Amino acid sequence: MNEQAPAFLPLTGDLQNDPLLLDDYKNSGGFNALKKAAAMSAAEIITEVKKANLLGRGGAAYPAGNKWEHLLHIKKEPKYIVCNADEGEPGTFKDRFIMEKLPYKLLEGIIIAGLVFNAQAAYIYVRGEYRQIQKNLLNAIEELKRHGFLGDKIAGTDFSFDIHIISGGGAYICGENSALLNACEGKTGRPRIKPPHLAEVGLFNCPTLVNNVESFAHIPSIINMGGDAYVTIGHQDSGGTVLVCLSGHVKNRGVFEIPLGKLTLRELIFSDEYGGGMTRAKASVKAQNTKLKFFHLGGQSGRIGGIDQLDTVYSHTDLRKAGLTVGSGAIVVMNEDVSILEYLKKTAEFFLHESCGKCVPCREGNKQILNILNKLTIPGAATAGDLENLHRLSRVMSGASFCGLGQTATAALVSAWKLFKNEFEANV
Ligand SMILES: Cc1cc2nc3c(=O)[nH]c(=O)nc-3n(C[C@H](O)[C@H](O)[C@H](O)COP(=O)(O)O)c2cc1C
Ligand code: SF4
Repeated sequence: MNEQAPAFLPLTGDLQNDPLLLDDYKNSGGFNALKKAAAMSAAEIITEVKKANLLGRGGAAYPAGNKWEHLLHIKKEPKYIVCNADEGEPGTFKDRFIMEKLPYKLLEGIIIAGLVFNAQAAYIYVRGEYRQIQKNLLNAIEELKRHGFLGDKIAGTDFSFDIHIISGGGAYICGENSALLNACEGKTGRPRIKPPHLAEVGLFNCPTLVNNVESFAHIPSIINMGGDAYVTIGHQDSGGTVLVCLSGHVKNRGVFEIPLGKLTLRELIFSDEYGGGMTRAKASVKAQNTKLKFFHLGGQSGRIGGIDQLDTVYSHTDLRKAGLTVGSGAIVVMNEDVSILEYLKKTAEFFLHESCGKCVPCREGNKQILNILNKLTIPGAATAGDLENLHRLSRVMSGASFCGLGQTATAALVSAWKLFKNEFEANV
């Protein structure tokens, strides 16, 4: 299917030598989309985003156009834009790539969103560890102010707008959109009760748009190309391209921009253009002779797939049909040396550490899940009752947890059970 890859990749197709040089960005067509958008009505811009079928790239894959349309119809003012750059999902490093390599494209996307909603200001909540990125973004914002793309009456319009950077504090839960807004307001990063929806009662209790870094970065290309052209690059249900993060036991690890719906997981993992095939953790140990055991898609909150799912096409629709998800774009590939139980123990440790403690199913459930997984790795320590409890806990946690963290904490476990039941039962 590789031959169907598009000639032009909207995000990385025009990578500059120096991503921080505004002139370079402008010379490669940068800010043409903002100029075009300035001559369009808010409804016309949103129509293009809807035609593009851009599904949010932060994990939940919510249609961006619908979210924008909903916010447009809310009459309360002021409105705020928040860019989610927390990037806390393990195995995910594509927002970092965008902020490092395409900072002006991201900022242009945010400014267009600001224009659509006549927003008061935007806040980018950047993962705390990305210190240099925060500095670079601040410099880029200053540069935009000097050139009239931010500040008073930007790009020849009556619209005044500013973008602020907020540094994250290192908690995964702060990526959840309502906890994110609490953190932006300087409060403890814990999820809010919804409804009210953030579009109505968001940042500082005002109507707010929250989108992921990659979602914003696609906007300039959508405006430049038009939604109809953009959607054809990808899948009819999920237009355009997506950044995937390949890591683990593949030869080529890194960020790749791929058209949605044109490549299978097998091609992504094994073709030389992308993953390049399997390797071992230590290159010296017969690197070539290892087989794939499983892959984990969409971050720790995503599901695990096995060799029988390798021919699934990488699109939201096709993956969903196969019981998998795009999620955050992470593709962690593991070889046959890896014990599924040891892998799941790491996942459980992560969720136990990151649970904010607000609700019982997640706070206590993650603890119990880890206890049982620990027992399952010790010969004779676990009973059939422990396996049963593992299932009951998963059901309760996914159904009764307050937010997405607890609801998805056992997604990997449940999917892995279907593939590797024998390993779970080996020590019972
Ligand atoms: C526990 C948890 C962590 C999350 N972390 C992130 C994150 O780091 N970045 C992100 O963009 N979305 C994250 N999300 C999803 C956000 O809640 C939200 O759906 C997203 O920012 C919306 O942007 P999008 O529609 O452009 O995808 C997380 C969700 C949950 C439940
Ligand atoms: S599910 Fe977990 S992270 Fe979410 S509110 Fe409950 S304890 Fe906190």
